[in-house]
Amino acid sequence: MNSTLIVATHNTHKTGEIREMLGGFFEEVVDLTAFPEIPEADETGTTFSENAAIKAIEASAAIPEALVLADDSGLEVDALDGAPGVYSARYSGEDATDESNRVKLLEELAKAGAKGKKRSGRFRCLLCLACGGVMVDEFDGSVEGIIANEEKGKNGFGYDPLFIPEGHCETFGQLPSETKHGLSHRGRALEKLKVWLKANR
Ligand code: IMP
Repeated sequence: MNSTLIVATHNTHKTGEIREMLGGFFEEVVDLTAFPEIPEADETGTTFSENAAIKAIEASAAIPEALVLADDSGLEVDALDGAPGVYSARYSGEDATDESNRVKLLEELAKAGAKGKKRSGRFRCLLCLACGGVMVDEFDGSVEGIIANEEKGKNGFGYDPLFIPEGHCETFGQLPSETKHGLSHRGRALEKLKVWLKANR
């Protein structure tokens, strides 16, 4: 099997995490920033699983000779009935940034009057593996936690400065990347992918 993995994303933070965690399995882990001719897939699904499959299959159809991995992930907050969920990347609108999304999340939690344990939620990740334009398998992972009252830490990306994983007092933005990888939604899904790779490569 080819020793290059294509990650079907333009989010270089995600690619970086996947590259760090899959170290040793592939000579190269590259993403769609290396393929400007491939357009961004429309995430029209209503679940992480559907969107991961859309992204993996579209990119794989365009690069049929490669093994393609897509990650669809996001944050579900109980006091907001599961929002932002599959809309995590665009929570504060079409021109959303990680920062504007975090500001909106804190505003919505304040409106909902959610304090302490009422600020519970989880990150979810669905990984979809595809080859030759066809889905090969999927792997999931999640991590429970609490949404902090204010941003803390500069590590990671997205909602990391607001997410305190279960069993810790610091946010993913404060914890070292190795600690995040060991317990994150993406880390857990990637552990399942590694088992698949050991068995199938
Ligand atoms: P996607 O690219 O459509 O899967 O959107 C993922 C979005 O979920 C990101 O833009 C982040 O806002 C959020 N997200 C997913 N994984 C993480 C993570 O590990 N840390 C922080 N935010 C994340």
